[in-house]
Amino acid sequence: MRSIALTNQKGGVAKTTTTVNLGACLAQMGKKVLLVDLDPQGNLSSWLGIDIHNLERSMYNIFLEEVYFEEILAKTCIENMAIAPSNIALAGVERILAHEKGRDLILKKRLSLVADNYDYVLLDCPPSLGLITINALTFVKEVFVPLETKVLALNGLVTLMNTVQVVRERLNHNLEVTGIIACRFDGRTNLSNEVYNQIKERFKEKVFNTIIRENTRLAECPVSGKPITLYAPDSTGAADYTSLANEVAERETNSKTRH
Ligand SMILES: Nc1ncnc2c1ncn2[C@@H]1O[C@H](COP(=O)(O)OP(=O)(O)OP(=O)(O)O)[C@@H](O)[C@H]1O
Ligand SMILES: [Mg+2]
Repeated sequence: MRSIALTNQKGGVAKTTTTVNLGACLAQMGKKVLLVDLDPQGNLSSWLGIDIHNLERSMYNIFLEEVYFEEILAKTCIENMAIAPSNIALAGVERILAHEKGRDLILKKRLSLVADNYDYVLLDCPPSLGLITINALTFVKEVFVPLETKVLALNGLVTLMNTVQVVRERLNHNLEVTGIIACRFDGRTNLSNEVYNQIKERFKEKVFNTIIRENTRLAECPVSGKPITLYAPDSTGAADYTSLANEVAERETNSKTRH
């Protein structure tokens, strides 16, 4: 089992787009995939057709009650891929747990019980480095950072790396940033190329060779209720996420030998 948090405290960098489409491509390769929606916006859940306004149980219950993952999981249109959904209720969790002892370990405690049923557990983090993201980082071994290559945002990246370091020292010795994903790449602009080169220079082999290009089909995809490989199989978006999934899977052996 590989556990991966898709994290970047900056909003709108393609965390959710990458979680859905990477997850779907891995599932279509025959892997068993669990997606965990950790964002109160519930974008991942609505993308996969879940009515987030009428959820009986969700990640909110996982954080605040003695509820098992099996009780909240939903199926998706991809056979091997399940989702643990969220909605706006999750926004209250940080405040309710603010002074609770062991609050950083709740997700790990619950998710560890089911994680080994899957080949990949992908966690779609909210755009913040608050309690929910810390819970994700306490559970996973790997962090993937989607970056929007349209803007130079290395400062934010430094803050994220520092947070990962603190969590590694205090809560999770296995934690490592293993992948940086260049997203929303617009090859017509010098800026996208410049940002990609800078990231590559700074983070070297951590940066995936696959670049996710800006693609209208990807932007339309959430309302279709499907991942890009089903919505627009011939699009550059589908090609890019398939290529990313291949690269991720190729690194499986490396990650096995590392841990
Ligand atoms: N390669 C792409 N081409 C075109 N549009 C894209 C691409 N990737 C993402 N988008 C669009 O960019 C917007 C932000 O993407 P997404 O919601 O995945 O980001 P996010 O990091 O999850 O955002 P948030 O921080 O709000 O959770 C969405 O409207 C999405 O459709
Ligand atoms: Mg998102």
